[in-house]
Amino acid sequence: MIYSETLLGALLLSSFIPAVLGGGMGWTGPNTCVSGACCTFSNDWYSQCIPGNCQGGGVTTASTTVGVTTTATTQPGSTATSNPGSGSAGCGKNPGLTSGTKSITVNGKTRQYIIKIPDNYQSNRPYKLIFGLHWLSGSMNDVVNGQYYGLLPLSNNDVIFVAPNGLNNGWANSGGEDVAFIDALVSTVEAGLCVNPKLRFATGFSYGGGMSYSLACSRANVFRAVAVIAGAEISGCSGGTSPVPYLGIHGISDSVLNISQGRSLRDKFVSNNRCNPQSPPEPARGSRSHIKTVYSGCTSGFPVWWIAHDGDHVPTPQDGNGQYWAPGETWTFFSQFF
Ligand SMILES: *[C@@H]1O[C@H](CO)[C@@H](O)[C@H](O)[C@H]1NC(C)=O
Repeated sequence: MIYSETLLGALLLSSFIPAVLGGGMGWTGPNTCVSGACCTFSNDWYSQCIPGNCQGGGVTTASTTVGVTTTATTQPGSTATSNPGSGSAGCGKNPGLTSGTKSITVNGKTRQYIIKIPDNYQSNRPYKLIFGLHWLSGSMNDVVNGQYYGLLPLSNNDVIFVAPNGLNNGWANSGGEDVAFIDALVSTVEAGLCVNPKLRFATGFSYGGGMSYSLACSRANVFRAVAVIAGAEISGCSGGTSPVPYLGIHGISDSVLNISQGRSLRDKFVSNNRCNPQSPPEPARGSRSHIKTVYSGCTSGFPVWWIAHDGDHVPTPQDGNGQYWAPGETWTFFSQFF
């Protein structure tokens, strides 16, 4: 995917700017291209300015939505927001955690995370809990800087956000140690704060998408839904036989984790959720659009959405009309269960 200078400028101005577009991880030099050159994203570590390499810039194409819209879905017993009695152990107590950077020890390793507690936190109100998982060579700070994949501004102060930090800036999940870390975070957060245990979610880009998928595989009874942006099976899939609502977002030209990899993650949950298999339409190259497919036939309460976009390996894809749609789609997907 090639970014025009204008497009990159817009990305930099937006609060969703991922460090991944800034010249690569660890790059501290200028992160815009001179006039007439365009930033070419290569992978999580590297992008560069290539003179005149600005194909696709300025073309405006409206996004398209294709697919059968299913009826509203409800998992039995999942409508707990209106039922304060269903909250976690931290409900009704003085908050045991404050917003900020914390650490806990899991299997002998010190693990870090950042937690964001809503303004005007009320201890008798069960909040939603959303984990935002960073990409390779990224960190919890990048997730915070990106406002938890753009979900924070949409959350109406009704969500507790957690950005865990991976070991070696990734989610290799060796021996399941990262799943154990997330388990420990769920316990810690819910002991200290009022959470609705039926409304836990995970999302992430790239390695963070792989880790979200891994959680869907091994913690189907813990997470209500996941949103995987440009993911692949790189953090394992222990279990992987239970249904979990699944949103997959992937670029047709993803040069790091190709879209075939994203499709296979999706198809695991198309199968587990007993949706009708299909080959969803994907946008044409150069269309600078995205196509969303809502699978039909899924078990009630276990939808699968798939959004293919005409782009590369990016956390916040943008249409030719300038629209950043991924945060809104993720929010809409998750809020079906609120
Ligand atoms: C996608 O990537 C996987 C893993 O690297 C590779 O095995 C596969 O051949 C690739 N598929 C395509 C269509 O490029």
